[in-house]
Amino acid sequence: MEKSELAEVAVNRIERVFGEYPLYRRAHARGVIYKAKFTANGNAEGLTIAPHLQKGETEAFVRFSHSSPNPEWTDVMSPVKGMAVQFKLPNGKVTNIVGVNAPIFFARTPAAFTEMLGVVNSFKDGKPPLRELAELLIRYPESRAAVKILKKMHAPVSFATGIYHSMHAFYFLDQEGKRTPIKYEWIPDAGIETLDAKDLAEIPAGYYEQEIEKRVKAGTANFQLAIVLGKADDPTDDPTVEWPRERQRIIVGRLKIEELAEQTDGMKFDPTEMSDGILCSEDPILHFRKDAYSISHERRIAEKK
Ligand code: HEM
Repeated sequence: MEKSELAEVAVNRIERVFGEYPLYRRAHARGVIYKAKFTANGNAEGLTIAPHLQKGETEAFVRFSHSSPNPEWTDVMSPVKGMAVQFKLPNGKVTNIVGVNAPIFFARTPAAFTEMLGVVNSFKDGKPPLRELAELLIRYPESRAAVKILKKMHAPVSFATGIYHSMHAFYFLDQEGKRTPIKYEWIPDAGIETLDAKDLAEIPAGYYEQEIEKRVKAGTANFQLAIVLGKADDPTDDPTVEWPRERQRIIVGRLKIEELAEQTDGMKFDPTEMSDGILCSEDPILHFRKDAYSISHERRIAEKK
């Protein structure tokens, strides 16, 4: 399928605003990949026929990342961290969950995302200039909720102490084809722990990568996978809106992070790549990501040659 021109423009703009870093992902540039094992507990069996969510074990890869497109930013300049999980299915295909440690996104549509990048000239010290930000929030009131969260956000103590959210909704499909709207959350066994301002100055670059390696070796970097069940009025097409906190959560399995994997450049965690039994929602940002990730992947692979 033709990739959207808008996705091309968006990736070009990311490069212009944050700088060009050949070989790196155009977002979440710095990260580390681990091998993991997912054990489904069977609680999702009535809701989806997805193979990795039937009781049993599935091999997986996890990439933890710092959100900045600039790999030279220090660890604490990007408090938003990523957790991308790729499950290896018995049929040789894969299915992904690609989330971050914030519940909502700042743009409702690909056009808004791309326009915002066009307005912002540069990110200095991890932040857009205040005047530009203020103007954007007048034009895009739906972005205010995410910006408010980001302003207050503290970096986690560890990659293993954040809750990672899919932000987008998906549909689970059961045997009869009945659809249930869901979102995902990875909940850390280690609990949620953030750094306070006085710790930040002392964090050296690469701290998170060293820290998670210690936890993995000790067997303590593990997560539970929760699904949040949407109700009829919960939007499935808008990542700027959080579903009410009281929505039911079901723990459907546990991810044990086992050992460092080969740090290959070839992997792509496309958030729309799904197994049978799971459908992407109508969310336009989710669908836009497919093309943006492909463009970034193609560029960084071409740069290797
Ligand atoms: C307009 C929306 C978005 C655009 C254009 C975008 C763009 C990108 C690009 C270009 C990459 C690098 C892909 C690669 O080279 O493999 C990336 C990675 C990533 N993005 Fe996004 N993104 C968007 C929204 C989101 C959202 C909503 C989330 C969280 C729910 C997210 C989480 C991540 C994560 C965790 C990675 C790293 C994946 C990995 O480890 O390979 N992004 N994004």
